[in-house]
Amino acid sequence: MSLNTSVPSKRTSEFLMSSVLSLADIRRSPASGAWLNTIIKGDCVAALEALPDQSVDVIFADPPYNLQLGGMLTRPDQSVVDAVDDEWDQFASFEAYDAFTRAWLLACRRVLKPNGTIWVIGSYHNIFRVGATLQDLDFWILNDIVWRKTNPMPNFKGRRFQNAHETMIWASRDPKAKGYTFNYDAMKAANDDVQMRSDWLFPICSGGERLKGADGKKAHPTQKPEALLARVLMASTKPGDIVLDPFFGSGTTGAVAKRLGRNFVGIEREQAYIDAALERIEAVEPLGKATLSVMTGKKAEPRVAFNTLIESGLIKPGTVLTDARRRHSAIVRADGTLACGGDAGSIHRLGAKVQGLDACNGWTFWHYDDGQTLKPIDALRAVIRCDLAKLD
Ligand SMILES: C[S@@+](CC[C@H](N)C(=O)[O-])C[C@H]1O[C@@H](n2cnc3c(N)ncnc32)[C@H](O)[C@@H]1O
Repeated sequence: MSLNTSVPSKRTSEFLMSSVLSLADIRRSPASGAWLNTIIKGDCVAALEALPDQSVDVIFADPPYNLQLGGMLTRPDQSVVDAVDDEWDQFASFEAYDAFTRAWLLACRRVLKPNGTIWVIGSYHNIFRVGATLQDLDFWILNDIVWRKTNPMPNFKGRRFQNAHETMIWASRDPKAKGYTFNYDAMKAANDDVQMRSDWLFPICSGGERLKGADGKKAHPTQKPEALLARVLMASTKPGDIVLDPFFGSGTTGAVAKRLGRNFVGIEREQAYIDAALERIEAVEPLGKATLSVMTGKKAEPRVAFNTLIESGLIKPGTVLTDARRRHSAIVRADGTLACGGDAGSIHRLGAKVQGLDACNGWTFWHYDDGQTLKPIDALRAVIRCDLAKLD
């Protein structure tokens, strides 16, 4: 299969030379510097075994679906449907498919960082088998995302429901994994401040995005839409993370990773798909750094102690703080505590005490007078956080 741009430009050929690695290359030089943002040509289990332990942040895998097509599929007008009947999608039995699934998932688990996560996309043909294997290997399923297709293929024979979705399993490496990336606040903000749900609506890949060969036919039979990958990466990675795709195909994961300022490593067996992916990724312009910062929620903000406000001169010892309605007041002491009557303690403890409560958020309870109005001391904490962000 050749692409429209089958004669690579000088720039492209330089890129091609430096961007495809053989298994021997990886074995000689397994450090990430050698394989970052490259495609490794070969079988994914062997390639994964050549990569170092705990070296990637996220894996996106779109494995063979084992579609088990029973002969040619035709439309009512007898035209033939361009179905996935490639050799790489065929397995002798469910047992053979399960053994393959187990082998590549085990290899993936070793290269994932302890706080890493894996996404596997599939259809009813394979996703239940993949899900069971993930659980058998001690991955922990976080979500199953339903990708509902806006433009699915009809069921031509009318013998079943129209198959209008695929499923993506998202799992952490370990059952008790802590600290995996989920950009919850960014996802929610992007969804009009409503929690992002587990059913996603996207069209299948078509139009200008669909890679075509010189013969006008699809360059890859199962090219995934970039919008789907963009949501996956925006949800579960940070700029600079390493995303591995063991079934790289036409390189959708690499193209989106490059555009979003993430690093990628792809593994693919077929040279024609590698060529298509290289041309495609070469053409991608990464977005600017300023557009890639990920919005974080309060939990992710750096911890700032009340004492820091005193040390930085934003609040002076002796300042009188009050609540918003000036019913309670306390004096700031040089050691970072507040005092009121015979009591002293942290901003939180004293705030609770003067109100007769068990707990209180001192940052929002105590206010200072800026000469015009009363403002919560949280506003001064925000100033410190803003300065810290400039240091990043
Ligand atoms: C479902 S397609 C992935 C399509 C890809 N997500 C895209 O958007 O183009 C699966 C790919 O895995 C490749 N493949 C199948 N078995 C493989 C193996 N054992 N090692 C490496 N690649 C393999 C196939 O050649 C095929 O391109």
